[in-house]
Amino acid sequence: MLDRLEALPADPILGTIVACRNDPNPAKVDLGVGQYKDVDGMTPIFRAVREAERRVLAVQDTKGYVPPPGDQLFLSGVVHQLLGREHPAVIDGRVGAVQTTGGSGALRVLAGLLLRARDDAPLWVPSPTWGNHIPLLGAAGLAITEYPYYDKATHTLEFDAMMAEVRRRGPGDVVLLHGCCHNPCGADLDPQQWDEFIEVAAERGFTPFVDFAYQGLGEGLEADARGIRRLAERVPEVIVAWSASKNFGLYRERTGAAITVAATPTLAATQTSQMANIARELYSMPPAHGASIVAEILRDGDLAGMWRDEVDEMRTRLNRLRALLSERLRVATGGTEFDYIEHERGMFSFLGLSPAQVATLQRDHSVYTIPSSRMNVAGVTEDNVDVVARAVTAVV
Ligand code: LMR
Repeated sequence: MLDRLEALPADPILGTIVACRNDPNPAKVDLGVGQYKDVDGMTPIFRAVREAERRVLAVQDTKGYVPPPGDQLFLSGVVHQLLGREHPAVIDGRVGAVQTTGGSGALRVLAGLLLRARDDAPLWVPSPTWGNHIPLLGAAGLAITEYPYYDKATHTLEFDAMMAEVRRRGPGDVVLLHGCCHNPCGADLDPQQWDEFIEVAAERGFTPFVDFAYQGLGEGLEADARGIRRLAERVPEVIVAWSASKNFGLYRERTGAAITVAATPTLAATQTSQMANIARELYSMPPAHGASIVAEILRDGDLAGMWRDEVDEMRTRLNRLRALLSERLRVATGGTEFDYIEHERGMFSFLGLSPAQVATLQRDHSVYTIPSSRMNVAGVTEDNVDVVARAVTAVV
């Protein structure tokens, strides 16, 4: 039976890892998959993670199952990180949460939750959006439509067009928004735009679905959560896919959470039970290790402080690299067309290249972005920035 299946091409994002790995050029530059890299081009293990891991392993005395909703200490730590301890939804017990296999697992569990509530649930996602949103959420069964978000030609947010579309949504509709550090374009709503979105959400009654995979990498851990916190104060129902992949560097530990803010504690408990049941259908129980590490860090004041400093370092470095690359591109091209890179946030920006130009960049210069020309800014270093600037200039 299975011999009827055809082999598939590599995933557009993950395939770039292999293409770059296979390039024998020692000066190759990997600006592909979204992993943070340090000055040596390494994806480091956080110091706080190393210490928490040591402590977790020192006291661990079983490999018994984690219950389907997950590690409760982890979940309360994440909910406090997301909403703050004093948020009305936290105080009232109106937050539902389950631990998931990374942010992708959270997206999948939340898609299942929406579909249990409405079997033809329609979802609006920004154009562009993360390359796996539509495959993952569409395969789950959501009916997906894109709304305008970012103009790739001018590198600007299409906020008015976005809001015109959002204003047409109503109860039973779901609108997905990136919490910060939009993947792939790096352009986020500013606080005023968030407030406008929140008012429209409150007025129109659709369900906001926030993908929050980069808390801390945009403007800071607290500032990045401002919009979501206000949203959860103003509207009765918000769902959030949260990830520890980037801001704890726990990529391979698959550590995330599906979180719902509900109108009542009873609704929140119902949503938790539904999500745990969906996880049971999909993969039964979540893995323990990454969640134990996050729980240990967020529980311990000193470790939490160390972790916050490391997130700050990471963000500061990303912004420094953005400024550096913009400046070198200004010198190399003699123009200002890449200045937007400095003002975008998080790991990603588009270079604005065609697929053919991306292919030339790889073939002739060993500089690897994903096919859409999204680059991972963290792959730029002080040593390779001129190579990147010259290569991009040569292909445009
Ligand atoms: C990315 O966008 O590069 C990362 O989120 C990794 C992935 O799974 O696509």
